[in-house]
Amino acid sequence: MDLKWPLVKGTLLLRAGEDGEEKKALQAAAEILQAGGRVAFPTETVYGLGANALDPEAVRGIFRAKRRPADNPLIVHLAALEQAGELAQNIPPAAVRLAKHFWPGPLTLILPKRGAVPGIVTAGLPSVAVRVPAHSLALKLLRTAGLPLAAPSANLSGHPSPTTAEHVLEDLAGSIEAVLDGGPCPIGVESTVLSFMFSPPALLRPGGVTLEMLEEVLGAKIQSPDLGNFKTDYTATPPAPGMKYRHYAPRAPLFLVEGAGPAQGRRLLALCTSLTARGLKIGLVVFAESQGIFPAPVLKVLSSRRDPATAAARLYGVLREMDAAGVDAIVVEGFEAAGLGGAVMNRLRKAAVQVIGAE
Ligand code: TXA
Ligand code: MG
Repeated sequence: MDLKWPLVKGTLLLRAGEDGEEKKALQAAAEILQAGGRVAFPTETVYGLGANALDPEAVRGIFRAKRRPADNPLIVHLAALEQAGELAQNIPPAAVRLAKHFWPGPLTLILPKRGAVPGIVTAGLPSVAVRVPAHSLALKLLRTAGLPLAAPSANLSGHPSPTTAEHVLEDLAGSIEAVLDGGPCPIGVESTVLSFMFSPPALLRPGGVTLEMLEEVLGAKIQSPDLGNFKTDYTATPPAPGMKYRHYAPRAPLFLVEGAGPAQGRRLLALCTSLTARGLKIGLVVFAESQGIFPAPVLKVLSSRRDPATAAARLYGVLREMDAAGVDAIVVEGFEAAGLGGAVMNRLRKAAVQVIGAE
């Protein structure tokens, strides 16, 4: 292995962006993975913490490093659709149609698993989550390693997902063998998760591939807990085990102010005023259109309200910056937006200790 890579608390930082180093970085990463180690790598959504999906010991190392509850299963990343048959069986034609349309891309499909997939990957479930990521480094790594890679987001369990190699190191330096640095992730929020273990298929996590896009390609309706049209009672057994955990949360308590127009502005102002009156240092996250609303000691602009893609790409980084600034409470202005905007609001609602002004 090449020894000139910098080490951060014992974790190799494999920089892929610098003068022809990409091949060497990929080779080093692949060797670590083949030896049963863990490598964080960029995808188009967020950084994933990868290990050989077919090696239970390697996968155990992911759970250990992230301090992830053992009942929360992992997504297996593949280099191509053709590999799906090695991990999943009885793949419905509708799932193949979606995969052909959206892969490589931010769509995870939950399918009946094959015996070859170790139980630790799927938390003992009879299903496996698979996706082909649309990031050239991720795809090259999958091909170079020649392995399916189990990879949850490369953060400590419960923290905001990492969208840069620096975020990964903040959470996991010293706990993993390496991080492959490919710069910031273009999308910034995790993939859409669609389960074919339910009929009609169930949208378990919204992402860049929206319900409308899925239904259009399927030519059929899908169900979603967010729409309240789930046919089965899922309260006893959450369909995505991850749904029951508090997620994506910064250290400081996050208050989300929903709604629109002057009513939302008044709620935001009232909350900021009362938190400040209690002596709390607040961090305010707003859209460009509301920059002047309150003179918070720490103020971050997410994007324009009309630009949900930028809001998604910046979301987790801004939440981490708030923690770095040492604020006592984070107040976030919500917005109504389709597509990625829906995914942003889903993550904020899960991160919030309180949602104010929701209908
Ligand atoms: O964009 C993404 O999906 C990123 C990148 C790295 O690919 N990965 C990611 O993984 O967000 P993670 O582990 O943070 O989220 C995976 C979600 C969890 O909510 C988990 O419970 C659910 O997928 N999941 C995984 N396997 C499942 C299964 N067999 N059945 C139901 N839900 C499953
Ligand atoms: Mg995660």
